[in-house]
Amino acid sequence: MHTNELTQQEVLDFFNSVLGPQRVLTDSENLHIAGADHTEDFVFLPELVLQPQTTEEVSKILVYCNEHKLVITPRGAGTGLSGGCLPVLGSIVLDMRRMNRILDIDVENFQVTTEPGVITEVLQNAVREQGLFYPVDPASKGSCFIGGNVAENSGGARAVKYGVVKDYVLNLEVVLPDGSVIWTGANTLKNATGYNLTQLVVGSEGTLAVITKIVLKLLPQPAKDLLILVPFYSAEEACQAVNKVFLAGYTPSALEFMERDAIMAARKFIGDYSIPLPEAIQAHLLIEVDGQEEAYLMQEIEGIVQVLAQFSTGEVLFADNQKDKDKLWRLRRVTGEAAKASSIYKEEDTVVPRAKLPQLLAKVKELGKAYGFDSICYGHAGDGNLHVNILKNNMPDEVWKHELPKAIRELFVYTKSLGGTLSGEHGIGYVQKDFMDIVFSEVELQLMRGIKKLFDPNNILNPGKILPEYRVG
Ligand code: MLT
Ligand code: ZN
Repeated sequence: MHTNELTQQEVLDFFNSVLGPQRVLTDSENLHIAGADHTEDFVFLPELVLQPQTTEEVSKILVYCNEHKLVITPRGAGTGLSGGCLPVLGSIVLDMRRMNRILDIDVENFQVTTEPGVITEVLQNAVREQGLFYPVDPASKGSCFIGGNVAENSGGARAVKYGVVKDYVLNLEVVLPDGSVIWTGANTLKNATGYNLTQLVVGSEGTLAVITKIVLKLLPQPAKDLLILVPFYSAEEACQAVNKVFLAGYTPSALEFMERDAIMAARKFIGDYSIPLPEAIQAHLLIEVDGQEEAYLMQEIEGIVQVLAQFSTGEVLFADNQKDKDKLWRLRRVTGEAAKASSIYKEEDTVVPRAKLPQLLAKVKELGKAYGFDSICYGHAGDGNLHVNILKNNMPDEVWKHELPKAIRELFVYTKSLGGTLSGEHGIGYVQKDFMDIVFSEVELQLMRGIKKLFDPNNILNPGKILPEYRVG
């Protein structure tokens, strides 16, 4: 433990007195679980894991940590892809899994109030039962927590029509590092009252405050959706086609890109080869439209298919029943996991203005040739958000360690030159912080340091994230 004043036993005694010994974990299995997430193969073992059940407990924990300068890292389900919840300095992990109650579904006002440890899909299903819709749909929705989604400002496949987490968070109860409990805003659809503390906490990756309650805006549940899979003979043409759909006046509820290797990896991963993948097909677009009237949606899909017909496409697969839709979505959702299953990897989450997507893809492939790396690309094409999984395969360790970061830097510099930025939805966390200088000037970084210091003067809350100078190791 990073403290000069206390023995390990004194620290344990205190937390046992607040939480009881069942919620203060020190066994190797739990330390290993809390020391990793879905980011590469990193493991940073903490010394203990705390599982609070109430805001009051979180507050007592933070008061103690702040007083004794104990580093503490909040954690959701650990599905993050930038190392946001990795306890890079060891010490304490604040595991939010037991704060997992949906507190109130306000049907009249289209709002839900929830604790952070609720699985996102559980929350979606609970509000759907009341005819309401929480559209943000990360690929890991079956296991990620809503609190982690807020902390990372997650996106997912429906962002193209419905936006990302930040567009749904109305208000947050948070505990500050000194133990104060505050609400950041109001439960209103509009709020022009002072600085926007809510949006400052959204996406702050557990570095400013611990989120203990979340109020989300909801929408009416759309009655129908239609889904097609469109094969392309050229991956760059698939990317070019994306913007044409919007220019023709359509806003699909999802518009996803998968290059050939991505769909191949996903088919292999789930052992289902029934989705056709003819030899010459280089990429697919998965396109969903949703709304209330099936006849209208059918017209929209026909219109979109017509737009795409100006490119060289293969036979369009129309998922006309729920089973086929689920199959296609499953394929898309496992793509990330599948791409990473075959090799050591690094994942980038580049995002550019949508019309620049073809240039971004071309650059990834050009850098791959120049530096000798393989990549699997897929992602939220409708948002200009390309996930780039760089595979180590047979690349020598030295090249992986010393040359690849140069390639990644080049990719980010190019991304910035297109008007884009480092991360669309995975966050900066631990793995992208050394690239922040590419997209922010020293003045801008200094403002961010000031914000961190204002919230967390002792730097106890998830240090080593977002800002480049907190380098560890
Ligand atoms: C996805 O879109 O599949 C997710 O962001 C996860 C990933 O890229 O691995
Ligand atoms: Zn994604």
